[in-house]
Amino acid sequence: MVVYNLKGKLKVLAHAKINLFLKVKGLRNDGYHNLEMVMQSIKLHDNIIISAKESGIKIESNSNKIPLDSTNLAYKAAKAVINKTRLDSGVNIYIEKNIPVAAGLAGGSTDAASVITGINKYFNLRLNKAEMHQIAESIGSDVPFCLTGGTAFVSGRGEIVKKMSPIIKKKVLLVKPKQEVSTKKIYKLYDEYNINKNIPTDKLLSIIKNNKELLIEDGWANELEDITKKLVPEVKKIKQLLKNKSLDFTMMTGSGPTVYSLLDQKQEKIASEIVSNWPRESDFITITETKNL
Ligand code: C5P
Repeated sequence: MVVYNLKGKLKVLAHAKINLFLKVKGLRNDGYHNLEMVMQSIKLHDNIIISAKESGIKIESNSNKIPLDSTNLAYKAAKAVINKTRLDSGVNIYIEKNIPVAAGLAGGSTDAASVITGINKYFNLRLNKAEMHQIAESIGSDVPFCLTGGTAFVSGRGEIVKKMSPIIKKKVLLVKPKQEVSTKKIYKLYDEYNINKNIPTDKLLSIIKNNKELLIEDGWANELEDITKKLVPEVKKIKQLLKNKSLDFTMMTGSGPTVYSLLDQKQEKIASEIVSNWPRESDFITITETKNL
């Protein structure tokens, strides 16, 4: 996580993520699902700017798509850090939003993770990694990964994060249809259908460890994808459009509805052309790249 000091303020880059695979292991007693996934940071990021104020927490943003009250994960993160450290100051948080919201890209979670890191640095609170991890876990399932970033094998409900050797840098095409989805709803529906794509976790992890090429036929998949397609048929349409252009490594990220393609060098040009000629005007479409942190 890159941190910059600006006059009396601190800026943290809050990177989005994609899931290289997502396997659902089962429903837990607490209502969450045990998962196995590889998460990968991407260059696309929000900027989080932190400064001190007399008291309280104030969130501001350039986006009208996120809440600015205590329901914002960044607010919850700030509150948790203040309570834990008994910080005797208020905090201003400015969220410069670039990551689409409710997209499966962990936009809210990465902002929260950056607030934890940022407040810790800004006020020199000396929270250690384990303490920050504990706070992250209490805010949301994707927040622990976002604290670490890079390439990681993530399990449990998202709180067990094992950093892996970085994958070779790849460009990533992102397409998000306008419609938003509720993660809770997707998981609930998943329980009715119980999709099992036989994702070979160990094999996929060893491909990353041995720095081998990521080929879709090795079993990279997302077990929530078929569920989200039922609620957002655009996911299927977008995936088809990308596959038709021979972008084979195309998958939904998280609970969606963003679809991404991992691009090899010869596909980069095809992807630029796709962006220039994309027929669906209301979609968010961009090319970014994987990011090692
Ligand atoms: O942890 P977070 O608040 O981001 O999760 C949102 C919802 O997604 C949860 O309320 C739960 O329904 C579902 N979820 C799940 N299993 C996970 C992560 C999330 O069932 N591992």
